[in-house]
Amino acid sequence: MCGIVGYIGARDAYPILIKGLKRLEYRGYDSAGLALVTNSDQLAVYKTKGKVADLEHYVLDKDITGSMGIAHTRWATHGEPSDANAHPHYSQSGHLALIHNGIIENYPVLKENLVQNGYTFRSNTDTEVLVQLIEYIMFTHGIDLFHAVQLSLTQVVGAYAIAVIERNNPNAIVAARKSSPLVIGIGEGEYFLGSDASPIIEYTKKVVYVNDDEVVCLRRDREPQFYNLNRVEKSHRIIELEMTLSQLEKGGYPHFMLKEIFEQPHTIRECMRGRVNVEHNSITLSGIIDNRERFLKARRIIIVACGTSWHAGLIGKYLIESFARVPVEVEYASEFRYRNPVLYDDDIVVAISQSGETADTLAAVELARSRNVFVYGVCNVVGSSIPRRTHSGSYTHAGPEIGVASTKAFTAQVTVLALMALCMARERKTLPQPEFEHLVAGLAAIPAKMEETLQVSDFIKKFSCIFTYAHNFIYLGRGYNFPVALEGALKLKEISYIHAEGYPAAEMKHGPIALIDQEMPVVVVAPNNKSMYEKVVSNIHEIKARKGRVVAIITRGDTVIKEMADYFIEIPPAEECFVPLLAVIPLQLMAYHIAIVKDRNVDQPRNLAKSVTVE
Ligand code: G6P
Repeated sequence: MCGIVGYIGARDAYPILIKGLKRLEYRGYDSAGLALVTNSDQLAVYKTKGKVADLEHYVLDKDITGSMGIAHTRWATHGEPSDANAHPHYSQSGHLALIHNGIIENYPVLKENLVQNGYTFRSNTDTEVLVQLIEYIMFTHGIDLFHAVQLSLTQVVGAYAIAVIERNNPNAIVAARKSSPLVIGIGEGEYFLGSDASPIIEYTKKVVYVNDDEVVCLRRDREPQFYNLNRVEKSHRIIELEMTLSQLEKGGYPHFMLKEIFEQPHTIRECMRGRVNVEHNSITLSGIIDNRERFLKARRIIIVACGTSWHAGLIGKYLIESFARVPVEVEYASEFRYRNPVLYDDDIVVAISQSGETADTLAAVELARSRNVFVYGVCNVVGSSIPRRTHSGSYTHAGPEIGVASTKAFTAQVTVLALMALCMARERKTLPQPEFEHLVAGLAAIPAKMEETLQVSDFIKKFSCIFTYAHNFIYLGRGYNFPVALEGALKLKEISYIHAEGYPAAEMKHGPIALIDQEMPVVVVAPNNKSMYEKVVSNIHEIKARKGRVVAIITRGDTVIKEMADYFIEIPPAEECFVPLLAVIPLQLMAYHIAIVKDRNVDQPRNLAKSVTVE
């Protein structure tokens, strides 16, 4: 949550900061602000409730000169969204300005001490205490900003990525990180910082991922310096980014979400590239091959994740248990980390996360590590915190996902889990060869089938407007498609603000059926796969008998459900285990088109953030 950006160099800082904030707005959009040391040597702090566009409007008549500055877009934790609670926060003397992503847990104690020493506070945030503390330590110890930040952070409990600037020193930005992401961009005589690389990529591909408990000093005239909190200088590794600028733009689509839905055939091909070889009937997932013994001996797999990634994990359970015959548990990371789970040496914990930064998932990884359990990551953002803390893993290669509601990252996660399941099955010899080959070919055929599935977009757009009257939706699915029902309901909730529940279709009789009447749209994922088809047909009869309005996702060529449903959307035939990769697409599109008719902000839905770096 919250995005931070900074610049020091020879150019005007303001346009770089504003563009950077726009790229980071997916992380939070309750308020935005920036601080500059202007050409007239003033420390100018501008901030306002609302979005980055509101900030641009707010500074129209202000002095926005200066070649050094920091900026912030907020997702509120402590203190409501307001001008006063917006970052940057400045110190009592007005000499320092600071931005922060994270949570300072011991801020009440720190604040109390500062109040006793004559400090007054302007906001209700935990962050303001940091900037006051740093100033207090600078004054009382007579030390410079870099040293004062190091000393201050030894007193701080919590998570942070911070950047601080000083009015009297327009030649330095001091930044630090613990548990919240921070990337430094290395240009020619100029430096950038960001919560991720998206504000930086336009200017340089050379980046350094800052480690926990490191403090960095960026000066115009010299190499960046990295220190730990004990003032020991640390070496740093410059990495060349693979991301391109065009991946961060809408490319002609009205919204990132729609672009990302349509990118799925491409992203799944990327995800499988070099891993699936149909000619040789092989699956190569280096993370599994390199740790073959562990996967051979695994007693159990525990998947930890949040949100959409947790839904992907549920499909992963079905895939791994079915192909590789290893028991799998799927846990919300937030529950796992706090409930003292029983873990064995031969368990494997698989952490799934698009951002690689979700605080609860990261904490679950740390818990597993502390119990000596092997941890495998399935993440999208290269170089993010979770892949850096896991023992091994597989990237999903979906490219940057900007829409807050996850779409292409979900299908890429499911694809990686399918690859893991197949690779494990191969090593463990749990699938007969013809079946293995059939599945490899089936998975390889999915991107082309996704292309076919996407052709329903215009049809979905037309009928979606019928449902904007609804206040509630039910989504049903069985087996592999139960998690798809959960994901469809989540997508609708997230971006249209219509209440929706996902259920295993058979569970409908144990409660949700009481809700069904002629007002209730029921979306049933009902592909024509042998094991479940008849049962789902019975469920649809039960809904129709109560006058519910059925939207069915059916396999092309199905005539039975076509007759029964009020609306139907056809998807191409596929192996039952891979149907989720296709069936979720109409549900993503339905959520998108309904939200558009309701005039919602689909890319930045209210109260949500893409990267949840707080508990
Ligand atoms: C937030 C996002 C969701 C995402 C979840 C987990 O809630 O809005 O789209 O599924 O976090 O995020 P992760 O990055 O760990 O997959």
